Amino acid sequence: MRACVLFASPRGKDSNTARLVDIFLRQWRSAGHEAEIFSLYDLAIAPCRACRGCQVDHTAPNCVIDDDMGPIFESVLHSDLIVLASPIYSWYCTAPLKAAMDRLVYALCKFYGAKKGPSLMEGKALCALTTCGYRPEKAADLFDEGLIRWCKHAQLRYLGLHAERHMGYGTEFMTAEIAENTAKFAENILKNV
Ligand SMILES: Cc1cc2nc3c(=O)[nH]c(=O)nc-3n(C[C@H](O)[C@H](O)[C@H](O)COP(=O)(O)O)c2cc1C
Repeated sequence: MRACVLFASPRGKDSNTARLVDIFLRQWRSAGHEAEIFSLYDLAIAPCRACRGCQVDHTAPNCVIDDDMGPIFESVLHSDLIVLASPIYSWYCTAPLKAAMDRLVYALCKFYGAKKGPSLMEGKALCALTTCGYRPEKAADLFDEGLIRWCKHAQLRYLGLHAERHMGYGTEFMTAEIAENTAKFAENILKNV
């Protein structure tokens, strides 16, 4: 199986979110699966313009914006699992991931034109890895709810969100407990994907 990972922390490889992704991908790959990772802060991803140019062709993304979303559309179309990995900013994911989600839900869901078409993401699985400063149940709950609705709308199978708390920049984020919880989440995704 293939996973497409959309990673969206501005703090890159040393970020808390990247630490969760590392644990997740170690298990994913050791089960014999492949993964393609896109680091969204290193890419040019413009916001959706709502032009609905993507709604004419019901078989391909066909987005009119020529930027780094092209390879992401292709990767999503060729993947079984989409992994969204972002810190919580203002109770949701970071801006580049939100832009990518808007582009995906329009270009790959042909619901918005004169003639209704299919979701090109139908049946794919999606999960999320996130880190936050406040308690996860008060920090990541709105992102989780947003993903439940986004996946239902786009006809994806939502496998859940894993959130871990960052206790402050002076403290070590990765503890044995966080590593164990994240590994358990990965195990569960491997069972259900
Ligand atoms: C601009 C900004 C907004 C943030 N908003 C929230 C928030 O709404 N809720 C929360 O719990 N933490 C918030 N945080 C804290 C981060 O989610 C937290 O430190 C996270 O672990 C950072 O992850 P990273 O190292 O992967 O970038 C915010 C941090 C920044 C820089």
